[in-house]
Amino acid sequence: MVGAGISTPSGIPDFRSPGSGLYSNLQQYDIPYPEAIFELGFFFHNPKPFFTLAKELYPGHYRPNVTHYFLRLLHDKELLLRLYTQNIDGLERASGIPASKLVEAHGSFVSATCTVCRRSFPGEDIWADVMADKVPRCPICTGIVKPDIVFFGEQLPARFLLHTADFALADLLLILGTSLEVEPFASLSEEVQKSVPRLLINRDLVGPFALSPRRKDVVQLGDVVHGVERLVDLLGWTQELQDLIQQEHGKVQMLSSGAQSSSTSSVHCSLCIAGC
Ligand code: OAD
Repeated sequence: MVGAGISTPSGIPDFRSPGSGLYSNLQQYDIPYPEAIFELGFFFHNPKPFFTLAKELYPGHYRPNVTHYFLRLLHDKELLLRLYTQNIDGLERASGIPASKLVEAHGSFVSATCTVCRRSFPGEDIWADVMADKVPRCPICTGIVKPDIVFFGEQLPARFLLHTADFALADLLLILGTSLEVEPFASLSEEVQKSVPRLLINRDLVGPFALSPRRKDVVQLGDVVHGVERLVDLLGWTQELQDLIQQEHGKVQMLSSGAQSSSTSSVHCSLCIAGC
């Protein structure tokens, strides 16, 4: 289970961190109160703030970091049963984890739906409008076309129901970078069997780890990249993870050939432990 805290090392603010979180920076988005950005009522009154955020988060602006590639490595090793994410930045897909292994519980920008006639569109159909700061309109009925991001009060995607089977099967639950404040996602943490260890890697002690910890819970407080690197080291996977990151960054650089690449090499680079 992951949340916005795994993408802050990629440069994307989370929601609730005091000071840096999106909910502390309402002026930038011109919203009256934090949750307004994901409320349908406010969206119909003023869709601009949501589309400002959408423009920022549309796939391509940010790159996966060590945490995403660690999850990809779990998949490569056939250890990842499923990745449940609340994030809408698409970085799990960008890291190479296939859609079949993902449950994007709060939706994604891959598709969009007309809020009036309910026609569905591929996300790229509205890309140009969003980039041009224009509210995308349905070519048939002129209704506002909204990316398929789950707003408060909206149904989660049907794939979320996979949790009923997945969590009973898990023999380890990793919880990374989330405040566990938003339901129904947060309560997934209670769905693994009592005998199953749950590992929280997060800056703060959250949810059941603070309120009703279980005997087998393990907590690594602090920066998520640091926590993941520590785990990877204990597993003896550091070299493998570095190789994977280098391979994936190589692909990105080939795709964007001509674009200037950063040559800063740092042991503790949060994007790339191999030095990007
Ligand atoms: P939050 O912003 O609520 O929580 C992020 C958590 O990650 C906090 O506990 C932070 O302390 C922690 N964190 C941030 N950066 C970190 C770092 N570098 N290392 C370790 N921990 C770090 O984000 P979510 O839990 O994802 O809804 O929020 C849940 C939902 O609330 C979101 O999906 C969003 C919002 O309403 C939608 O997008 C629809």
